[in-house]
Amino acid sequence: MKKVPTGVVGLDRMFSGGFPENSAIIVAGGPGSGKTILSIQFLMRGVMDGEDGIFLSLGESKERIQRNIETFGWDLNQITFINPVEHTPRREPGPRLDAVLGTGSQKKELVTETDVIINLPSVTRLISSALKPSTRRIALDSLSTLKMFYGDEVKKRRMLFRLMEFLIESGCTCLLTSETTEDTPSLENYISDGVLKMHTFIESGRKRRAIEIQKMRGTGFDEDMRPLKITNSGIEVYNEELFTEGPTT
Ligand SMILES: Nc1ncnc2c1ncn2[C@@H]1O[C@H](COP(=O)(O)OP(=O)(O)OP(=O)(O)O)[C@@H](O)[C@H]1O
Ligand SMILES: [Mg+2]
Repeated sequence: MKKVPTGVVGLDRMFSGGFPENSAIIVAGGPGSGKTILSIQFLMRGVMDGEDGIFLSLGESKERIQRNIETFGWDLNQITFINPVEHTPRREPGPRLDAVLGTGSQKKELVTETDVIINLPSVTRLISSALKPSTRRIALDSLSTLKMFYGDEVKKRRMLFRLMEFLIESGCTCLLTSETTEDTPSLENYISDGVLKMHTFIESGRKRRAIEIQKMRGTGFDEDMRPLKITNSGIEVYNEELFTEGPTT
């Protein structure tokens, strides 16, 4: 199985070389756990090899993300950045909820380019039109936002299956962020090829971070939780050390 460098040396080691090529991996974690940084670091690693990467933001604007990654020396202009909310002009008085949710066939016909549409067809259309022959990596931030537009569990499940299918068919290696901290795994954790969990802990008043591979189909991996730091060069994973609870010295 071909492996794709993740952008984090310590994480490559955890995966015995990198993410399995052409897989869809969930990056799950709480607020500020480093999901967005990891996704961009992954795309930037591809840029080093002349690959194009697509970052589909369903939340933060390009300017805001650029500000947050400035210290790492990364430039979002080196990748294809898409934000459907930011770049779609709103039709008065705002998005039609029924159109957004895509219920009913006649309602779908009312949907025009001027609506703010966040659903599977709009996401796949945006990605498809941004795909180039050199595109090898895709990051979607966040899957949780996309899921919010799907009311019931059946629709959510169907959307997730189709999304994963679409991403795999693109031939790219894909990261999807998921805003979760709870122990009950979300649906996407079952459907995806792999799940990376980003943890944060406060111990004796100090913030500590760790990363764990919960699952990865088709390859062996490091099952232990490893300490992670966000430094001025991005995310670093220390895979010689085990993450142990208790205050560090
Ligand atoms: N230069 C830096 N040095 C150390 N830590 C940093 C640096 N830049 C950002 N951070 C840390 O990274 C965190 C933000 O990471 P990121 O935006 O990737 O989190 P996230 O998981 O995407 O959060 P959210 O769910 O809110 O989107 C900040 O809260 C901060 O603690
Ligand atoms: Mg984020």
